[in-house]
Amino acid sequence: MLVRAISQRLLLLLGLAISLTTGQLSPQPEQVHLSVTNDPTQMVVTWVTQSPTNSTSVDYGTNRFDRSASGVQEKFVDGGSAKRVIYIHRAVMSGLRPGQRYVYRVGSELGWSDVFLFTATKSGSDWPARFAVYGDMGNTNGKSIPFLQKEAQSGDFDMVLHVGDFAYNMDTNNALVGDEFMRQVEPIAAYVPYMTCPGNHESAYNFSNYRRRFSMPGGDGEGSFFSFDYGPVHVISFSSEFYYYLDYGWKQAVYQFQWLEEDLQRANQNRANRPWIIAMAHRPMYCSNSDDPQHCTNADNLIRTGFPVGSKQRSRIFGSDYILGVEQLFYRYGVDLIFGAHEHSYERMWPVYNQKVCNSTTSSDNPYDNPPAPVHVITGSAGCVEGEDPFIPAGLPWSAFRSDDYGYTRMTVANATHLMLEQVSVDKGGQVIDSIVYVRNKHGSSAFNCV
Ligand SMILES: *[C@@H]1O[C@H](CO)[C@@H](O)[C@H](O)[C@H]1NC(C)=O
Ligand SMILES: *[C@@H]1O[C@H](CO)[C@@H](O)[C@H](O)[C@H]1NC(C)=O
Ligand SMILES: *[C@@H]1O[C@H](CO)[C@@H](O)[C@H](O)[C@H]1NC(C)=O
Ligand SMILES: *[C@@H]1O[C@H](CO)[C@@H](O)[C@H](O)[C@H]1NC(C)=O
Ligand SMILES: [Fe+2]
Repeated sequence: MLVRAISQRLLLLLGLAISLTTGQLSPQPEQVHLSVTNDPTQMVVTWVTQSPTNSTSVDYGTNRFDRSASGVQEKFVDGGSAKRVIYIHRAVMSGLRPGQRYVYRVGSELGWSDVFLFTATKSGSDWPARFAVYGDMGNTNGKSIPFLQKEAQSGDFDMVLHVGDFAYNMDTNNALVGDEFMRQVEPIAAYVPYMTCPGNHESAYNFSNYRRRFSMPGGDGEGSFFSFDYGPVHVISFSSEFYYYLDYGWKQAVYQFQWLEEDLQRANQNRANRPWIIAMAHRPMYCSNSDDPQHCTNADNLIRTGFPVGSKQRSRIFGSDYILGVEQLFYRYGVDLIFGAHEHSYERMWPVYNQKVCNSTTSSDNPYDNPPAPVHVITGSAGCVEGEDPFIPAGLPWSAFRSDDYGYTRMTVANATHLMLEQVSVDKGGQVIDSIVYVRNKHGSSAFNCV
């Protein structure tokens, strides 16, 4: 294991040395990946070249390349000692017919990618949206990658939500690991939109590899926080890391919190049309892993409660003992489901608010039938070099199902009332080891009553 890790590092360094000394950097497109905007007639494609090109374009069409769009090229300088440069290209395919299958290729006169396929986002909200959801997937020991590649190319899901922590790390070895990881996920991400949020492993150089390599819609414009509508769902992605890396500027947590509230207000105005609100951020509000007392057993979990204000006087100013807590905000705006990762395991919670379990009061056999509290799920076991995280043996009162198998989550949001979750175990060859049906006949804060 160690020998393998060392030889891999040597190879990467050798590759860097060769490319830096010979100057033979390729203008050939690589690391192709898709992302949605808030317009279902558009799809964004992002890719990298190692040397600059004199144009950036995408050719696409339903069976011929009868359309073309030009994009923009950005020079990205990694923060590592080599100050390595890559060129990040972005282009928008527009005028797409919702639900139509397209072929595309990207590049310039200096080199073209392979041909890839994708299905344009369906229009409206009345269609079942199918997601693969996971976090903590690395370049080494990325156990779920082959399963996800096959399912993405078979059309088994429409979109990926990668809940933070990529590559381990994208900046490692002068960002060569980031390049390698983005090549590894191309067989997934070039076929279905790959939507993200930042994790702690992206923190180097103020999250620059994360901010530049992905193209997420709206929000802060750099993928730290944003939202989009997809089928019956309003998806919100935000940064838990703003609560931990305060050296990069604590105001980012304040701006994000203000944006979250505004976004939740807009989403609730549109609730009849997009009934489900699902949020994701890397670090969880609830967990029961024994190696992480900071999040799992500490009552002051910063994402959940916010920052303790500290003195009675300051509490009077802020009107609370804590500020910027996300759990209360999400409860006030009726957020249905919250995904976290960071713990390298899978854990589904009973419906919970303020450390109180609030199961369904209408159904005796399904705790998730119109529960009076939000549902939290951790899916951080996609596989990385750090292995799996152990649990507190007895669990915590909100622990409903836990597994240390490598794997990922499938989510189908069938319609306004029904959402299905399945946990796939890669260790068990793709077997589904957990599933629930989450039912909500009424969405919004008035559906909650857990105090
Ligand atoms: C781009 O470079 C290629 C190769 O040098 C050249 O043939 C082509 O005309 C250039 N295109 C533009 C738009 O400058
Ligand atoms: C980190 O990046 C954010 C967003 O671009 C910026 O607002 C902040 O000032 C940066 N912090 C530092 C210390 O450079
Ligand atoms: C919630 O439901 C589960 C499953 O029926 C049960 O095991 C658990 O004790 C319930 N919790 C509470 C607080 O009612
Ligand atoms: C919503 O989806 C569920 C699960 O597929 C199904 O049982 C139910 O009939 C659907 N409801 C409507 C109104 O189509
Ligand atoms: Fe993490």
